[in-house]
Amino acid sequence: TGDLVIAVDGPAASGKGTLAKRLAAHYGLPCLDTGLLYRMVARAMLDAGHDIHDAAAAEHLVGSFDETGFPEERLRGGEIGEAASVVAAMPAVRAGLLARQRRFAAQPGGAVLDGRDIGTVICPDAPAKLFVTATPEVRAARRHKELLGRGEDVAFESILADIRRRDARDSGRSDAPLKAAEDAVILDTSALTVEEVVAAAIGIVERRR
Ligand code: C5P
Repeated sequence: TGDLVIAVDGPAASGKGTLAKRLAAHYGLPCLDTGLLYRMVARAMLDAGHDIHDAAAAEHLVGSFDETGFPEERLRGGEIGEAASVVAAMPAVRAGLLARQRRFAAQPGGAVLDGRDIGTVICPDAPAKLFVTATPEVRAARRHKELLGRGEDVAFESILADIRRRDARDSGRSDAPLKAAEDAVILDTSALTVEEVVAAAIGIVERRR
């Protein structure tokens, strides 16, 4: 097959989104940030005034929600990421978002998808799978710097605590937990620059395609 599907998975703030976009630009492929889908469900839940833990409401919403109705600035940020990880643990939510992710991956030529379960569940047959990771401290430091750059002064310790909590929830859930696929290449970015990560990832993809 000539279709190049690249799965990029990893924990919160690992740099997988940046890497996925760079790979998509390099290979001329469309890119889907699948975390946004879970964030949209969380946003719709909160906007409708539902308790974020209300699985029946989430199941109902995921069947009917309009993907185009959310400006991205309403989906970014740690709070909505936290809420997204709650709805992402619900099997009905994951099932409701499966088909659109598989359709995206099936485009002629291929696609890049980033998330938590792309290599394990959404695209188990992807030729190229990357699992991007870094220590919680490094991820928190990167997020901290990014927020400071935007003029948001959030304590490092509180960012680190958020990251640890999200890691625990994403790795501990029974449906599609965060983990590297057996045939994924693990890329620890703790001591690498963005350019070094991109170069390493392209090297890995070239060996797999
Ligand atoms: O990647 P991002 O931080 O935007 O994802 C938000 C949340 O959505 C994650 O913490 C995770 O719980 C969930 N998610 C998921 N599966 C994916 C992508 C995101 O469970 N493929």
